[in-house]
Amino acid sequence: MRDTVARTCKALRVNRDSAELIIAALLGKPRHEIYADETNENLDHGLLHARLIQLKNDIPLEYLTKSVQFRDFDISIEPGVFIPRVETEYLIDVIADEITEPPRCVLDIGTGSGVLAIALARRYPDSRITATDVSHTAIRCARKNIRTHRLESRIELVRCSLFDGLIGTFDLIVSNPPYIPSERLGSLPRSVRDYEPRLALDGGPHGIRVIQRILSQAKHYTHETSLIALEIDDNEVSTMRDMLENDRTLSYSLHKDLFGRNRYCIATFT
Ligand SMILES: C[S@@+](CC[C@H](N)C(=O)[O-])C[C@H]1O[C@@H](n2cnc3c(N)ncnc32)[C@H](O)[C@@H]1O
Repeated sequence: MRDTVARTCKALRVNRDSAELIIAALLGKPRHEIYADETNENLDHGLLHARLIQLKNDIPLEYLTKSVQFRDFDISIEPGVFIPRVETEYLIDVIADEITEPPRCVLDIGTGSGVLAIALARRYPDSRITATDVSHTAIRCARKNIRTHRLESRIELVRCSLFDGLIGTFDLIVSNPPYIPSERLGSLPRSVRDYEPRLALDGGPHGIRVIQRILSQAKHYTHETSLIALEIDDNEVSTMRDMLENDRTLSYSLHKDLFGRNRYCIATFT
């Protein structure tokens, strides 16, 4: 194994710590166990080698391990589904700080792997959640995760675009929508640009196309005390502000992530 670690350091240009973490993740073992079997009898060298080459070609590690930790739970992930990010974990805390009462009826738009819907269902045990996505692959992945967490009776999955076909009102509408400006997609790291679904990234000109559509339709699906919680791109905050200031039906606040960047928008209808 020491050889494999050394080769991984060289091939991926990472230090020993990172190489050990990567190998442990690929083998599905705790890091301290990777040296346990000195003879490496049980190691599938061919598979490990193939995966290291895939990593070298910028395929995201999460698509190889097919698993991601989100807050205090694990979820399955697969190519074609957006890999949940740490910023999105913190959106749950922002929502918790902003709501006055636990939401009973929640809508998660663009659920991807289902992380936000699952995190909210775990946090608010009396809530019922509708989780939507346009992507077949995302819906299939979310279904698997919802089943793993035994939340089928509380989270309903709907394949649709935004609010299409939905009825009723929601106490909380949450979304981590595609928000990268189309013109910036080409400059994203290759691991994102070439491997994550464009549908999950492309926010159109200025990155606010989907956000604009959510905010313009949301009033038909909310009541006086409903909250809309969105993850946003900190590079597009001034565009967001202009858009929100022009809409007199909305009041909003922007919130920072743990790195001090404006990454969340909480809006209500006035
Ligand atoms: C940035 S990903 C977020 C996924 C997940 N909520 C998360 O935080 O990991 C955006 C998701 O929105 C979905 N999406 C894009 N356009 C949509 C639309 N018009 N209606 C519903 N979902 C959409 C994509 O398929 C993708 O799964």
